[in-house]
This record gives sequence, structure tokens and C-alpha cells, in this order.
Amino acid sequence: MATTTITTATKSPLLTDLASTLNHVPSNFIRPINDRPNVHEFQSFSDSIPIIDLQGLDGSNREEIIQKIANACQNYGFFQIVHHGVPEEVVGNMVKVSREFFSLPESERLKNYSDDMSKTTRLSTSFNLKTEKVSNWRDYLRLHCHPLQDYIHEWPANPPSFREDVAEYCKHVRGLSLKLVEAISESLGLERNYIDKALGKHGQHMAINYYPPCPEPGLTYGLPAHTDPNVITILLQNDVAGLQVLKDEKWVTVNPVPNTFIVNIGDQIQVISNDKYKSALHRALVNNEKERMSIPTFYCPSPDALIGPAPQLIDIDHPAQYTNYAYSEYYHNFWNRGLSKTTCVDMFKASN
Ligand code: OGA
Ligand code: NI
Repeated sequence: MATTTITTATKSPLLTDLASTLNHVPSNFIRPINDRPNVHEFQSFSDSIPIIDLQGLDGSNREEIIQKIANACQNYGFFQIVHHGVPEEVVGNMVKVSREFFSLPESERLKNYSDDMSKTTRLSTSFNLKTEKVSNWRDYLRLHCHPLQDYIHEWPANPPSFREDVAEYCKHVRGLSLKLVEAISESLGLERNYIDKALGKHGQHMAINYYPPCPEPGLTYGLPAHTDPNVITILLQNDVAGLQVLKDEKWVTVNPVPNTFIVNIGDQIQVISNDKYKSALHRALVNNEKERMSIPTFYCPSPDALIGPAPQLIDIDHPAQYTNYAYSEYYHNFWNRGLSKTTCVDMFKASN
């Protein structure tokens, strides 16, 4: 059997330990001068994304909440949710075990390392080392999480409670995702289960993003501007700000609020909604003092699902904006073209 031995002489591809030894950002992380974060503006915007209270979504407040979701999806592509039903303890354990994972000795973390994008469990760095020109100030662990029994045995076995804590979190967030997808479907005037059905046998992936402190945060990104390729993303962040959302051509910082999740519309909802809803550009900045962690759950269509604008949202005034395509084709393009401000949806525009 082929085994890989990682000796101390091998240079680690990971950023986390290296970052703490650096006084300057290495040249491969430095963005061109016209594409750098404006760290001075970071805290100056008072505008933020809407906060929606989900209490009563299954009861008397449903209509009102759905209206708020519709407004948020149209105007921001992003919202925060409170009273989302995921127990604080489950969220707390998820954050704790993630921090523990990234505190393991590097040799232990490296057992999970791979830059092969087709692997369903992998620790990696930046975004896609094989295709990108400039690296990002991030390490990340990506996991497939549904159906759980197909993937859980691949997940890190260390820290010892990792599989149990993450599985518990995944199950709860899955329930929440299904509810949100139904609410979004209704908010578009579609049948409650329209989107659910359009996705086929849907998948669920997650990432644990770890952004080490950075000596020169004005030169690089944790993640540069991009839209998410999936259906919806439910993001948990620790108490360190870094996420920014583009709203009316300005970058709005999403300051952490305890016990909330951040929800954003991915490209697939933009397409199904025939451009009524927008998959917003967002990015992650780093800072020179604190480590930042974010844990997005990506809710996705089945690879063979055929995605296109909902026929009910197409008429003479609203012609179809996209051609139909298989999700697998879309996803492949996303990972291979690199994160970019011109989003992947443009490749499937009806006029192309
Ligand atoms: C992502 C993402 C933002 C963040 O992983 O797709 O946008 O705040 N993360 O880490
Ligand atoms: Ni994203």
C-alpha cells in the first residue's frame, strides 16, 4: 500500500503555522494595487444587512416573515436570522471543535490535506492552488455532509469529538436549510416545494474557514469577491468581523451578532428566480490581531439536477435570462475559473 510520509523537511502547504512567523505578506499573496481591500473603510459603514426573526415562521407570522425574506433577497441577497431553532449548545460545540481542529499540531492536521478538488473531505489552503494567480490568506477544511453515513467515516478523527459535534450541527442546519428553501420558494410566488423538487437529491457541504492574523491586511484577502455557486449558504462566524457584502456598489461589513446565522442566496436561486433575486458579491478581509473563523454550510442541488429559470417566472416582460444546465457543469466551472467579480452565472446567460 502506498503511504505518504511527511517529514519535517517537507515544506507544509498550510498557512496557519507559517503566518505566525511572518512580519510581511509573502509576494504570492499580494494583490495588484487596484484590487486591494480598503481597510480604512472597514468599520465606517453603519448600514448592515437585514436581521429577520424566524419566530413564528411555521405559524401566525409566516406571511410577514416571507415578505421580509423577499425584500432581503431582492435588495441585498443576504440576511441574518435570529430564533433560527439551532440550539446554542450545538453551535457552541461546533465552534469549539473547529477551533480545536485548527489548534492541533500541524503534522496532525496535514493528515487531512489534499489539493485534489474531487475529494469529498479535504483540508486545503487559499482557494484552488492549481488555477489561481494570487493566494488567499486562509486555510480551510471542506466536508460533504449529506447523507451523513456516506461521508462521516472520512472526516477527521481528531479532535475525538469532531465527528459527533459536526454531525449534530449538520443535522440541525439541514433542517433549517429546508425550511428556508421552502420560505424562499413561497416568497417568489412559487409552490412551497418548487425549489426543493428542482434540486433533485440535494447535497450539503460545509467549510471551516480559518483566517490567521495577517501582518499586512491591506495587501491581501481571506477570500476575494465572489458569489456562492450553490442554492443558499448558512454562515456562522466567530466574534471577529471580516465579511463584507456589496450593496449599491459599497462594501458593507457584517458585524458579528451573537446567536445569529448569516444567510445568502447562491447563484442557483438567482437563476431559478430569473434574476428577481440577486446572488450578491461578498468577500472576507483579514486583520492583524485576531484569528477569524467562519463556518459556511452550502446547500446544493444534486449534480445531475437540471437548473433553469422557473417557468412561472418567465413571461413576455421577463424572458428567460438563462439556459438550462446540469448543476455538475456549473460547479466544475466555479472551481476551475477562479474567484472573480464577473460571476459564473454569466456563462449561462440566455444570450450566450
Ligand atoms: C465562503 C465565504 C465568507 C467568510 O466561504 O464562501 O464567503 O466570512 N466566506 O468567511
Ligand atoms: Ni462565499
